[in-house]
Amino acid sequence: PAPPATLVIFGATGDLTRRLLVPALINMEREGLINPSSTVLGIGKDAGDDEMLRTSLETFGAGHFGEGDAQRIEAWKSLRPKLRYRAGDFTADQIYTEIAAELTGNAVFYLAVPPRFFGDIVEKLADHGLTTEADGAFRRIAIEKPFGHDAASAKALNARILARVAETQVYRIDHFLGKETVQNIMTLRFANMMIEKLWNSDSIDHIQITAAETVDVGTRGSFYDGTGALRDMVPNHLFQLLSMVAMEPPISFDAEAVRDEKAKVLRAIRIYEPEEAAENSVRGAYTAGTIGDRTIPAYTETSDVKPDSTTETYVALKLMIDTWRWAGVPFYLRTGKALTVRDTEVIVTFKPVPFAQFPRLKNAHLPPNRIVIQIQPDEGISLDMLIKRPGIGVAVEPAVMDFRYAGLFDIGRLNGYETLIYDILTGDQTLFQRADAVEAGWRAVQPFLDRWAEGGAPEPYAPGSLGPDMAADLLARDGLAWHDLV
Ligand code: BG6
Repeated sequence: PAPPATLVIFGATGDLTRRLLVPALINMEREGLINPSSTVLGIGKDAGDDEMLRTSLETFGAGHFGEGDAQRIEAWKSLRPKLRYRAGDFTADQIYTEIAAELTGNAVFYLAVPPRFFGDIVEKLADHGLTTEADGAFRRIAIEKPFGHDAASAKALNARILARVAETQVYRIDHFLGKETVQNIMTLRFANMMIEKLWNSDSIDHIQITAAETVDVGTRGSFYDGTGALRDMVPNHLFQLLSMVAMEPPISFDAEAVRDEKAKVLRAIRIYEPEEAAENSVRGAYTAGTIGDRTIPAYTETSDVKPDSTTETYVALKLMIDTWRWAGVPFYLRTGKALTVRDTEVIVTFKPVPFAQFPRLKNAHLPPNRIVIQIQPDEGISLDMLIKRPGIGVAVEPAVMDFRYAGLFDIGRLNGYETLIYDILTGDQTLFQRADAVEAGWRAVQPFLDRWAEGGAPEPYAPGSLGPDMAADLLARDGLAWHDLV
């Protein structure tokens, strides 16, 4: 198990805690990863006591796992009495005085709250001496996204936090890094000679990174309208994928060595001039329509969204990474809501063979080799190759070498937060975003934000489609097409 600690969750009655943190804690308890003397102290604005938190989590589903899941039912039973609750205002001193009165030893302060509270909570914790690491005890802060709103605000937030606590105490969460298939990108690259040797502009033609979602904005209008697809997904989740795919081999797998290489890649993304930002981006917003049997209103008719909103629910970008390894290799990124399928994937397309030497095929265009890293759903990796069709003569046929996680392992029961919480408790910062990397990510997307702020509106697209037509043009002008969504 991890060392004993108090996990103080700010936002204990919120959605993140119920949907992801508590289920992850139950999984960890089941696996014996939580120290028997650890406790969870939930802080929220709703009035109530320990029992209120426990029952509200049960109402939401904690402990209800069905008959086949006796282990998790047991895990919830043993976790339940360790949960405590205090109501309080995150911006007033009272709650911090109460926490200080009962807290001893190791503690993790988990900020599962809206971003406007991040700075205040860290300052209050520090003012009350709660972040001081005395007598060998650790005091760590976990911060959810969004970390900043643009390059300037991310920098200011880092400065505000780092004025009070050390970078080694800060765990900036990007939940994509809790996904097995995302972590596996490093293993795929650095444990397999035949892959890493070809992983550069000599052999690779271009790379596509997609995070397509079928969900619409729904009840998240008030958050989403001030955010949009670019801020919500690109400098964080998609850039995590990009940096895993594009980083240089680290000199070790220590947190700092890995984070150095990831930060370098983000710093090497070409910063576009305003006109280049316009040319290399497409933004979209969905109209009213249906996805399967689901009818959804147009984005601009969603509750808490301004009717004249120009916030995008879809974005596609073409980025360049200015390093020796990636010179001339375009990275195409896209993400959107209310699309045809849920599909998060990285597609690495290799260059064609220099010459197709096959009889009757001389100089014909052969489909390129491709590695498809399927992040979700149906996690796996496949390799598109060409083979000879059996029979007389030489006929070249595409074939797929296909590996699916589900065929080998049982990963379906974890939500990704288990790893992240365990790493915070054991002090491993590898899977957390360092201040400089967060800022580099924002700097790379700032030209798009600036250009869009000058005017214009997103392209409309129908729910259940692949996004705006112009996104196809972004690749077509380079003679390419997006990979088919599964
Ligand atoms: C969140 C975004 O960070 O990630 C959501 O705010 C998005 O808008 C979600 O839906 C996607 O995460 P996942 O794990 O469902 O792919």
